[in-house]
Order: sequence, then structure tokens, then C-alpha cells
Amino acid sequence: MNFDLQADAAKAVQLQRDDAVWQHGRGSVSDGQDTNADGQPTCVLTDTANAIVIYFSRSGSTELLAHMIAMQVAADSLEIVVQKPYSQNYQQTLNRANYERLNQRYPALNMQVPNLDQYQTVYLGYPVWAMTLSHPMTAFLKSYGSQLNNKKIVPFMTQGGYGAGDSVQQIQALLHNQGIHNEMAPSLVIDGNKVNRASSQIRQWLNLVNR
Ligand SMILES: Cc1cc2nc3c(=O)[nH]c(=O)nc-3n(C[C@H](O)[C@H](O)[C@H](O)COP(=O)(O)O)c2cc1C
Repeated sequence: MNFDLQADAAKAVQLQRDDAVWQHGRGSVSDGQDTNADGQPTCVLTDTANAIVIYFSRSGSTELLAHMIAMQVAADSLEIVVQKPYSQNYQQTLNRANYERLNQRYPALNMQVPNLDQYQTVYLGYPVWAMTLSHPMTAFLKSYGSQLNNKKIVPFMTQGGYGAGDSVQQIQALLHNQGIHNEMAPSLVIDGNKVNRASSQIRQWLNLVNR
């Protein structure tokens, strides 16, 4: 797999912050391009993989986690890209996210999604926002959820320390509302500033998911 985990870690600015400074992710800046200021969005597709990691990341932590998982299970990878990236500034991102959530106006996507028939397992990665699913993943599931019927869904997320909230239930509800049936695997929840120290937790979780 052609991932550069060191470069990913350098982009995940939260990793350099200890808990006292990090303040549960408050104040975490991003590159203002949802991790893609220095390159193209991740899209690694093969003819042979039976799993794919589909993720969104604003400030890089979920992206690093997504790539660590994809390397472990030899999965393909696809980054969710929105038409209008979220602001570099945390408060502005929060304001926009609150507006989107309260008005149920989820972001327009700007990405090609391949036919997902070849995949039996779909890992879905996202940051937790306001104790629920972040909106790019909501938008993805609303647009492409119908391609996920009968697949094993494996949620993973990074967050500021307050946990998964109702994000996994939201995934289930979004799919269920489209008449989609899935096996849901146990989810993985990692602090956004500790992803680079989560290797053994990831391995243990993957053993559980794929046993
Ligand atoms: C708009 C917004 C809302 C957030 N809400 C929560 C929250 O409710 N609970 C939490 O634990 N962390 C919350 N966070 C922190 C992020 O989940 C955390 O920083 C995450 O690691 C960011 O992932 P990323 O680097 O992949 O974008 C929020 C961050 C943002 C930008």
C-alpha cells in the first residue's frame, strides 16, 4: 500500500499536543483543505482487495488512523471529499457544523465513488462532531448508502475524549432508512491526539472484527 504514515502523522497536528494544551480537540487547526492542501485526496483502488476504508478527516487524525488500518488489513482506501472544505479555524468549523446539523444541510461532495461490489467489508472512519457523526460521512451515507447492502460495516473514529456519542447509531439509522441491511462490527474509538500510539489497540480491535 502506498501510504506514508510519517507524512500523515506530520499532517495530524493534534498529535503534537499533550492533553492540557489539546483541550479535547478544541482549537485544533487544520490545513483548511481537509488534509489535502499538499496533495490529492486519498484514492487507492485495486481489483483484488475485499475490504475498503472510506473516511473523512479535517485535521488529519482520522486520516492517519484510516491509513494504519488499511495497511494492517490490505484494504483499498477512499477519502470523502466535500466541495467546500471546512475552515482552518476551529470556531468557524464549529459554527458551520452546528448550522449544518441544526438545519440538516449536509455538505455537497466532490468525489468519484467506485462500484463497491467487490468489497465484503467496508470500514467507515470519521471524527466525532457534537457527539454524533460528522457531516461529510452523513452526506456520503445518504448518497452512497445503497451500495453498502449486505456488507460488513466497521466504524472507527477519532474524538476529543468524549466518546462515540450516537455516531454508530446514526450510521445504522441512515442505512436502515434506505432499506439497507448490514452486519455491524464493533467500533474503534481513539483520542485524536494519540492515534500514533494506538497500534496495539488497533491490532486487538482488528482481531475482534475479523475473527
Ligand atoms: C466541529 C467539531 C466538533 C467536535 N465535537 C466533538 C465532540 O462532540 N466530542 C469529542 O470528543 N470531540 C469533538 N471534536 C474533536 C474531534 O472529534 C477530534 O479533534 C478529532 O480527532 C478530529 O479528527 P480529524 O483530525 O480527523 O479531523 C470536535 C471537533 C470539531 C471540529
